[in-house]
Amino acid sequence: ELQEQHQLMDLHRDAASFYFKCLKKRGNAGARYLAGRGWSIETIKRFGLGYAPDQWDALCRYMSTRGYSNELLEKAGLAILSEKVTGNKRHYDRFRNRAMFPIFDIRGNVVAFGGRILTPEGTPKYLNSPETLLFNKRHLLYGLNIARTHLRQHTLILVEGYTDVITLHENGFQNAVATLGTSLTPDHARLAEKTAKRVILCFDGDQAGEQAAQRSIRIFRHTEVEVKILTLPHKTDPDQYVKEKGAEAFEQLLQKAPTAVEYQISLIRRRHSLATVEGKVHFAREASDVLKQIKSMVEREAYAARVAEEIGVSKASFMEELQQGKRSYE
Ligand code: UTP
Ligand code: MN
Ligand code: MN
Ligand code: MN
Ligand code: MN
Repeated sequence: ELQEQHQLMDLHRDAASFYFKCLKKRGNAGARYLAGRGWSIETIKRFGLGYAPDQWDALCRYMSTRGYSNELLEKAGLAILSEKVTGNKRHYDRFRNRAMFPIFDIRGNVVAFGGRILTPEGTPKYLNSPETLLFNKRHLLYGLNIARTHLRQHTLILVEGYTDVITLHENGFQNAVATLGTSLTPDHARLAEKTAKRVILCFDGDQAGEQAAQRSIRIFRHTEVEVKILTLPHKTDPDQYVKEKGAEAFEQLLQKAPTAVEYQISLIRRRHSLATVEGKVHFAREASDVLKQIKSMVEREAYAARVAEEIGVSKASFMEELQQGKRSYE
């Protein structure tokens, strides 16, 4: 198994260099696509981006000249076996006519690929390697091989996509990492905990992004990580935001990102009118549900004082609300 792991790593490294070389072929659509995303040559090299040609078996043919069997390519998830025609065993490339994003493990070995279609729309937008001996997306964070040595204030920025990581890195935020088309898992959270003290969640500015933030907050509760939430304007993601508004504007958003508790309370506030007694009561109850999750008593009391002030009651009576809710669970 160890030997096979080694072979698969060599294979992925060589495949990545093939896809990279394909960018240099005259007038190819992949190079044009990546240039259109606005990334510099240095960035393209640093992330090893490439192009899978618009052919059935360009990778298979190239790899066979380097001594790799189609069976091994199949094991790596880069080739697919077709037996439809005449029952002949024929392998063809999984990735065709796509911009290629190598996926690195924490040591910087290529262990999988993501491939993006070159048109703005179409499905699947990204095709990813299947899980293999090398690749388990439930505990891999894209960009962590770089981010772990480039933390800023012991902090990781967690984003949704490949392109968000790449654009943030290019703009000096080299502490950005992404989950790969899956929502955050407890494994991801533990990995982040091993690396950093704080994680700033920066998901896409849409319904899915907001839900992902809520889910992630719950998962990080089982860790010691301090979580903050950066909310982007509607329908933008970090890649678009930084390209449109610049690194300085993004830095401002990072600086004023609320803590998970502040964020959750602000979502509750949005749903209730504090102008009515009824609204205040509901707000107090739901806010106290959030505050009950806080382990540190000092922190809990500090937030409680704020909420009490906001609804115009004494801290003592709001603490009563907190206690009451608690008793009912006991
Ligand atoms: P997004 O839909 O937000 O894409 O998916 P994106 O990262 O902004 O990509 P661009 O800017 O349109 O090129 C976020 C991430 O979810 C995974 C990918 O990892 C993607 O980066 N994903 C998305 C898939 O794996 N497959 C898909 O079809 C779509
Ligand atoms: Mn999205
Ligand atoms: Mn995007
Ligand atoms: Mn996006
Ligand atoms: Mn309510």
